[in-house]
Amino acid sequence: MKKTVPEIAGRKQLARVPDKDPPQKIAMVTAYDYPTALLADRAGMDVILVGDSLAMVVLGYESTVSVTMEEMLHHAKAVRRGTKDAVLVGDLPFGSYQEGPQQAVHNAVRFLKEAGMDAVKLEGGATHAETVRALVQNGIPVMGHIGLLPQLVSATGGFKVQGRDLKTAQRLIDDAKALEEAGCFSLVLEAIPDRLAGLITRSINIPTIGIGAGPECDGQVLVMHDLIGLFDRFTPRFVKKYADAATLIEGALGEYRHEVQAGEFPGAEHSFTIKDEVIEGLYGDK
Ligand code: KIV
Repeated sequence: MKKTVPEIAGRKQLARVPDKDPPQKIAMVTAYDYPTALLADRAGMDVILVGDSLAMVVLGYESTVSVTMEEMLHHAKAVRRGTKDAVLVGDLPFGSYQEGPQQAVHNAVRFLKEAGMDAVKLEGGATHAETVRALVQNGIPVMGHIGLLPQLVSATGGFKVQGRDLKTAQRLIDDAKALEEAGCFSLVLEAIPDRLAGLITRSINIPTIGIGAGPECDGQVLVMHDLIGLFDRFTPRFVKKYADAATLIEGALGEYRHEVQAGEFPGAEHSFTIKDEVIEGLYGDK
């Protein structure tokens, strides 16, 4: 059955009715095209994020900064076609919301209208609260994202764990509260120490979804190509590799190449037959 944004918002571990089991944690993964969306949805994922990590793991850019709104929409539409049940979140790419609420609403509407996304995600803390408010007021559900912000790596100096000192840890707590207050229905915490992520999770009433933020979050997200082992340029410490798809695919391709070059493929079982009289008729014409 199709999952909804309010259902995801309700999966807060603290929001327990005394006699009931706590809600299941939220399982989220990225997908970028029809086959990966189909597989993620079949695996029962709660949320599929068309992440701007697309830039690096699918399009081969150096960072997420380069990916455009048009590229994101192109992939989001394919993900929509492969998804039946999961909530779909379109990641607003760098440059699609930094100019302010009007630009953000314009591009977020495109995600919902043209690509059939259920919600959008944007990176940034309290400084983006006004933009989040404008999106929510226009009927666009927003997932926040604080901690390590890949779109800002050139400004912040690389992929580093965030919030390790008192000042930056306090800022992350303030950012989380500001985004909740602005109307986010959930919040991604990226590369934050586990106990700080736990503290943030208990400080707000919307679910937190961690990536490199320890087990105390209300859910977890990983980049699909990291977890299936299809992206090996670098693997962050927080990634668990559940499969080695690269080795599997490379092995299959190597075997195919070998069989073609050796004349072993295709065999009779992969070929189509024709009646003898037709062939004889053709030779007879010569
Ligand atoms: O783009 C992405 O894949 C993301 C996740 C890391 C949360 O933003």
